[in-house]
Amino acid sequence: MFRKMSVVIAFLCAAGVYAQSPRLRADNVDEVFRAMTLKEKAELVVGGGWASLFSGFGIPFTGHPRVPGAAGVTNAIPRLGVPQIVLADGPAGLRIKPGGKDEAEKRYCTAFPVGTALASSWDTALVSEVGAAIGDEALVYGVDVLLAPGMNIQRNPLCGRNYEYFSEDPLVAGKIAAAYVRGVQSQGVGATAKHFAANNQETNRFGNDSRMDEATLRAIYLRPFEIVVREAAPWLIMSSYNSLNGERTSESRWLLTDVLRREWGYRGVVTTDWAAKRDTKRQIAAGNDLMMPGDALQKSELKRAVKSGKLAVAQLDTCVKRVLELIVKTPSFLGYKHTNAPDLVAHAALSRRAASESMVLLKNDGCALPLGDVRSVALFGASSYDLVAGGTGSGFVNKAYSVSLADGLRGAGFLIPSALSDDYAAWAGKKSHRQKSGGFGPVQKYLGLGALKEKPLDVEYIRRYVSQSDVAVVTVARQAGEGKDRHLEGDFLLSDVELSLINDVCSEAHAQGKKAVVVLNVNGVVETASWKHLPDAILLAWCPGQEGGNAMTDVLTGVVCPSGRLACTFPVRYEDVPSAGNFPFSVRGEKPKNCVDSTVYAEKDSVGYRYFNAVGAEVSYPFGFGLSYTTFAESRGEGSVRVTNTGAVAGRHVVMLYDESSPMRPLVFFAKSPLLQPGESWSVAVQKER
Ligand code: BGC
Repeated sequence: MFRKMSVVIAFLCAAGVYAQSPRLRADNVDEVFRAMTLKEKAELVVGGGWASLFSGFGIPFTGHPRVPGAAGVTNAIPRLGVPQIVLADGPAGLRIKPGGKDEAEKRYCTAFPVGTALASSWDTALVSEVGAAIGDEALVYGVDVLLAPGMNIQRNPLCGRNYEYFSEDPLVAGKIAAAYVRGVQSQGVGATAKHFAANNQETNRFGNDSRMDEATLRAIYLRPFEIVVREAAPWLIMSSYNSLNGERTSESRWLLTDVLRREWGYRGVVTTDWAAKRDTKRQIAAGNDLMMPGDALQKSELKRAVKSGKLAVAQLDTCVKRVLELIVKTPSFLGYKHTNAPDLVAHAALSRRAASESMVLLKNDGCALPLGDVRSVALFGASSYDLVAGGTGSGFVNKAYSVSLADGLRGAGFLIPSALSDDYAAWAGKKSHRQKSGGFGPVQKYLGLGALKEKPLDVEYIRRYVSQSDVAVVTVARQAGEGKDRHLEGDFLLSDVELSLINDVCSEAHAQGKKAVVVLNVNGVVETASWKHLPDAILLAWCPGQEGGNAMTDVLTGVVCPSGRLACTFPVRYEDVPSAGNFPFSVRGEKPKNCVDSTVYAEKDSVGYRYFNAVGAEVSYPFGFGLSYTTFAESRGEGSVRVTNTGAVAGRHVVMLYDESSPMRPLVFFAKSPLLQPGESWSVAVQKER
């Protein structure tokens, strides 16, 4: 009897507490926070686990996520009206699982050009448009926070995630990231600038210690983040997996509080990267507010630390408040009713435009491009028929389709010998012809297939198809993904099969009085110096997103005048790269050599073109390089630059100003012109950055 009564009393008390509890509103964060128990505070700063990421794959015990395939969720606290929020990747488009039994129900997302490509457009307005479209898809599919942009410096061409990142230059990386963040957040969802900081390799990514002096760190590796914080105020920043000078970034109070918040004035939330190595109480004490994806152990660690006095409750409170302040801005809190129906047609058109604006024309001897009277194309290279739209890992996007170069050319009315395309289709059909890219092994099929290996062809075969066509085109492709750095052989360097293909196709075309064009469908820098003399033209198309083949066709045919410029250097040899001696160099099939536990940034701020400028070393294609189908004249006055299109077709020009007083010639300003008709001029006011 007594027992029954106490249960009833406990129930009534709990109901009373529940009824009296404040409900979260945008203007009562403090009140709600004061009403929270220690348990609830731990619930809030530790995420809701892996459920959403693994849902829909038939893995048992993975919960009932709201958005299958999203990377994570926070925990709701119903008593206080605190909703769960949903976080999903990633840079080149939203990464969620399509689900749905029939096509009409599937939640496809638009695959946009990868980060490196977007930066090569040098067009901040365009990048904001792309950000806004990705933000819109997030909103419409029920996601509150996008885990992008990736914005680490491209320190070395072999970093497996360079494709997600923007540039080797901190000003370009920072400005493009700020444009992306403004776009995403214009839709009322949060962006996450990642990975803070000095996360420049994938080898030993959970354990590597990036070591450098403070001046280098600030000038090169922190600067893009400083720009994005000051200019775009991302709702979140993701601390990185690596350590920095001996301390994990998620546990560094110097990085997350002294520099990020006190110096730069950051007011948002810092989240960990997913399942980073950790000491949860040190993370909280450092100012890392949110632990993702979160597990039960972290919550007990936190509660124990507070109870034993090892963690001051005030430090936990600071993080709790920041997470609440994030939540009140989200669509989930604001009661947004998502429709699961984004405008995929409009976004595909934007993806196509962004891709064509990002492509870099590296060579165009004898005006081989745009393709003039050409009607038929001898199209070689496996990826001409099987586009590499983007990368694998968290940068993968579940798109409805992708357009290959063959599709794009055919769509524009070109003929491709059908027996040639049938042979390539048969090659693409074999699983064994796919390369593994990225570090996820068995689950890679959910995260993006590897690029196709090249098909060896004999000269007779090539001759036959070149003779049936007006021009010869060869595509070379590369794909990369998180968890693994790129190799030198067969990745940065072209494979023997690829080199023979380029060589044989170019010789046959030239022997028959025809032009040969190479298209690079690559995630990042590849070796070009040894073979670039062979073709008449080289178009660097990057991993251009789902509309890649159409965008390539637009540039090859002159529908779009190429205006992309390199935001990274193409060196002559890998060994010339300033960090080559202290990057985990790995040979396929062997364990990486050197720098396994720590990587010393011995080249200091001599990163990319800064180094090549300072030492006057030859490169294959320099930073800022890119040809056009037209010509421009620049006249530089006091505080402004005037650009005139002096050629015969409409085009766009990128103004770049460098600090000539320094041997490194760092970039201090850039701006992209609108489309200028022949004879038309445009002026831009110059605001040099330090
Ligand atoms: C990646 C992050 C990503 C997260 C969630 C991590 O492995 O490093 O960039 O946002 O997973 O998918």
